[in-house]
Amino acid sequence: MLTDLLLAILHHLLVFQLAGVLAGEFVLMRNGLSGRNLKVLAHIDRMYGLLALAIIAIGVGRVIFGLKGWEYYVTNGAFWAKMAAFAGVGILSIRPTMRILKWSRANAGGDHTVPDVEIVAMRRFLKAEVAVFALIPIFAAMMARG
Ligand code: HEM
Repeated sequence: MLTDLLLAILHHLLVFQLAGVLAGEFVLMRNGLSGRNLKVLAHIDRMYGLLALAIIAIGVGRVIFGLKGWEYYVTNGAFWAKMAAFAGVGILSIRPTMRILKWSRANAGGDHTVPDVEIVAMRRFLKAEVAVFALIPIFAAMMARG
């Protein structure tokens, strides 16, 4: 009971942090991105990766140690839909992450400005991530109720 509660609390805290980081990326990734903002973007993109890993660890913990037992989830279609949406967000984040790493290398001196065309292209991925991310809590509520 206590383990389930602690995992649920951690799960919610991490998930809200991930949403916050995604919002931060959205605000920072704008035309004219350069210098300090680019450094902050690179930093929060690393946080994004770490948070995603922590969410997987805690999520798997909830499946195994949660009150309902793992059998409840493996036969639950909404659970797999949620996993697919989560994986989809992860896949959509690969290109922006690679690009942010490239921009960061060019910004070693702190005075690099990213070409606007690249920003426009990467913002498309971010928008898709936000859209798919919105499906996750929908599937989560469905899966929790069978
Ligand atoms: C960003 C990704 C995720 C979001 C936004 C998210 C969101 C949520 C939300 C809102 C709930 C509460 C559902 C409710 O009680 O109505 C929940 C529960 C849960 N989540 Fe996640 N989740 C994410 C990732 C994961 C992952 C990767 C796993 C497993 C590997 C997972 C496993 C679970 C489990 C087992 C529950 C408990 C459901 C129940 O009470 O039966 N979650 N999630």
